[in-house]
Amino acid sequence: MSSSRTAIFPGSFDPLTNGHVDLIRRTARLFDRVVVAVLKNPDKRGLFSVDERVAMIGEVCISLPESDRITTDAFEGLLVHFAASQGACAVVRGLRSGLDLDYESPMASMNAHLAPDIETVFLPASNRYAHLSSSLVKEVATLGGNVDGLVPPLVASRLAAKIAGARGARS
Ligand code: PNS
Repeated sequence: MSSSRTAIFPGSFDPLTNGHVDLIRRTARLFDRVVVAVLKNPDKRGLFSVDERVAMIGEVCISLPESDRITTDAFEGLLVHFAASQGACAVVRGLRSGLDLDYESPMASMNAHLAPDIETVFLPASNRYAHLSSSLVKEVATLGGNVDGLVPPLVASRLAAKIAGARGARS
């Protein structure tokens, strides 16, 4: 068994928020390698394509102090299959509230059933990001609100361009 410990940080990331970045950095301090894994979900069309999300995460993470331990990828199918393909020992998920715990617990139990060797590790969201979600960020940005401080600057500018593009296409 490898002594290097890899964690998967999975999600939709549509788009990456500062809450995600905080959790990715904290995961990178706990493990030797973190793979930020974007779900390719054929049933859910996002604002950003999966390729756009992977590119944004890569561009943001490259400038983090922990960048040498962070990679980004996309996956489809079962998370535990992807985790096993990466030699990961853990899946890390952030918890903002009891609601998150209710949503996460059955997934963690199912993943433990499917792959007993892969642990789910819950990290509490930092207080300043406890209200933050990708859907709220999209709603605020779409309605003309300021998302500075909620998402990395690169994401804010891609969000603005995406929303302007969508408006242009409608008019
Ligand atoms: O950011 P999200 O949308 O809350 O992330 C959810 C995600 C990607 C972690 C979850 O939907 C997932 O792991 N999907 C992969 C499919 C899977 O493995 N299902 C069985 C686990 S219960």
